[in-house]
Amino acid sequence: MKEETFRLNLASRGRRLRAGAGVRALVGETALRASDLVAPLFVTEGRESADPGPLPGLRPMSVVDLIKECRALAKLGVCGIMLFPRVETELKDEDGRAALDPDGLVLRAVRAVKAAVPGLVVMTDVALDPYTTHGHDGVLTPDRKDVDNDRTVEALARMAVLHAGAGADFVAPSDMMDGRVAAIRAALDAAGFGRTGILAYAAKFASAFYGPFREAVGSAPAAGKRAPDKRTYQLNPANRREALREVLEDLEEGADIVMVKPAGLCLDIIRDAREATLRPVAAYQVSGEYAAMVAAARAGWLDLDKARHESLLAIKRAGADMILTYFARETAEALAGK
Ligand code: PBG
Repeated sequence: MKEETFRLNLASRGRRLRAGAGVRALVGETALRASDLVAPLFVTEGRESADPGPLPGLRPMSVVDLIKECRALAKLGVCGIMLFPRVETELKDEDGRAALDPDGLVLRAVRAVKAAVPGLVVMTDVALDPYTTHGHDGVLTPDRKDVDNDRTVEALARMAVLHAGAGADFVAPSDMMDGRVAAIRAALDAAGFGRTGILAYAAKFASAFYGPFREAVGSAPAAGKRAPDKRTYQLNPANRREALREVLEDLEEGADIVMVKPAGLCLDIIRDAREATLRPVAAYQVSGEYAAMVAAARAGWLDLDKARHESLLAIKRAGADMILTYFARETAEALAGK
């Protein structure tokens, strides 16, 4: 007796498009390229680079090592870096005055990188947290109960002009003070730096995923319980409309690129930004996202190569044109088959 085989009569069988590597590649909608990536890099004084600690992607480097890293990244097709300083404790003060030192670490690093690897797009972080003893992104009011928005913006605008003068291609305010993009644009233009762009951290949430970064730049005190706290300027993770409003305001104020952060936790916000503007959208896969994957892989719970690729692809699929990630170098190496 012949057995009846069970057959569904389906007009569509989605699996036909997933049957092999070739067809999967042909119907792939999103691809990750080295040129989508921006590497956040930390520069420190001294000739020796600081102990990598458990997270190699957050190692503060001397200017000499920074240049080596930039050469390697450029060779791999990574087009940009975002530079942060690790400032010596002795140089920090309440107002973060070292940020305005005309011979400061970041300025020397920018000049050196632009001289050595001129084609690499150099972006610099504009915020006071690496320079203040309290770790806030700005200067405090006299009663020390709040971050003084307008005095902070004045300092940021001066800082941005110094960075532009050193050769930064983009300045990146990461502080979330009101009105800083317009003030920075005006200051740059007045100083003759009309060609320097602004990448604004437009939708930056008050996230628990910035911990390893704060260790790397030594801005951890602001994470403590002492008032004020960063929630008085960074966005509430509950708020989607407010995030979009910040994006639109930064664009109106003159931002060339708007950034959403932390990327993997804000895929909806990235999509909102993508749909709200024709301007480029950047996303920052932050230190805690990186650390969580690295730690899980070390415990044997995740395949790091696959998790890394998937996490970045998802950010791109959400609508990001470029991604800041501590995985930039290894992703570019993997894409190059190294
Ligand atoms: C502060 C700044 C932070 C990060 C980038 N710029 C931390 C903070 O807001 O305290 C976090 C980046 C990361 O975690 O990778 N200006």
